[in-house]
Amino acid sequence: MPLSPTSTPPYMRRINVRRDLLPVADLIQLCFGDQMDADGQEYLRQMHQTARDGSYFRWMPGAGEMLSYPLDGYVWEEDQKIVANLTLLPFSWRNKWIYMVVNVAVHPAYRRKGIARQLTQQAIQHARQHHVSAVWLQVRDDNESAIALYLSLGFQPRCKRSTWQNITPYPQNVFIPPEVEVFAGTPKDWKKQESWLNNTYPEEVAWNFAFHTGRFKPSFLNRLTRWLNADEQRHWTALLDGKLIGTAIWEPGRWSADTIWLGAETDYQDYAIRALLPTVRHALGNKRPCYVNYPAGQATHAFESAGFALQNTLIWMSIELTAH
Ligand SMILES: CC(C)(COP(=O)(O)OP(=O)(O)OC[C@H]1O[C@@H](n2cnc3c(N)ncnc32)[C@H](O)[C@@H]1OP(=O)(O)O)[C@@H](O)C(=O)NCCC(=O)NCCS
Repeated sequence: MPLSPTSTPPYMRRINVRRDLLPVADLIQLCFGDQMDADGQEYLRQMHQTARDGSYFRWMPGAGEMLSYPLDGYVWEEDQKIVANLTLLPFSWRNKWIYMVVNVAVHPAYRRKGIARQLTQQAIQHARQHHVSAVWLQVRDDNESAIALYLSLGFQPRCKRSTWQNITPYPQNVFIPPEVEVFAGTPKDWKKQESWLNNTYPEEVAWNFAFHTGRFKPSFLNRLTRWLNADEQRHWTALLDGKLIGTAIWEPGRWSADTIWLGAETDYQDYAIRALLPTVRHALGNKRPCYVNYPAGQATHAFESAGFALQNTLIWMSIELTAH
């Protein structure tokens, strides 16, 4: 590799969070800044702040390509600066450890030199050495270069998920199907709602959202736990001709955006979404950004007509590793 007279030999090394957080935050901003949502911007702001005061390292569960603090992973140094980063996040799934690869970012001036390939290969190697059963990542469906890279390294697409966000201000032309009735609260037939929710957030994605229907179950214990922890949660259900067709659950986000979980009878999901989402927004007073994660390509017109806009679609990929 040709080097300029002032350059140092390029090399990869394990990240040193206390020392590297600021340049890595700058790099993530440079590489992802233009596609970051409100939570992403907040995450970056906190990362910069943490790097500056060095007093406190927080953990940010969430979703997307650039979701958590780079507590572990690898950086690439060249010309006396960090020009690339890859973060590794450990998760537990089915009683096994898996790694999530995030924040794969190469400075534009250093691209197409095989740096991301070497970092990702190192991440896989690191996972093998730590007896981790799989490595997962998420990549935007329009990020052709990154998709090509991961496919070439053996990652397999597992699913495609879209994130929808409420449009502000609330659009004037939202039409709620009058034949659908929406009620606040969780009426009977929780089992049916639970199976819809598990359908929308199956096991292969639930681990990443820390999604578990157990905490939504209408029970005294759950109410007590929420009260003790000052956790908020609100439920709505939709009925068509007296028949339950869908459920929506709102939870406040830790950061700037809230989450709505949706479950619906497959044949009536459009109806349910068109009725539930505007009702939820109205009830919440339309103050904060709200995200809904949903299987990509499903109910897109229903989301749009309910006043939500597609924020991104991510392909979830994984590579299975044989545990030794
Ligand atoms: C995607 C990204 C990480 C690639 O980094 P890189 O160091 O330039 O990638 P590499 O040189 O290691 O290339 C590895 C492979 O990726 C693919 N690739 C990378 N850049 C490409 C481009 N501009 N066009 C087409 N394919 C490309 C190729 O398959 C390439 O293999 P090849 O060189 O044998 O053809 C970099 O462009 C980047 O930081 N982008 C912005 C942030 C981002 O999107 N990160 C990925 C999030 S999942």
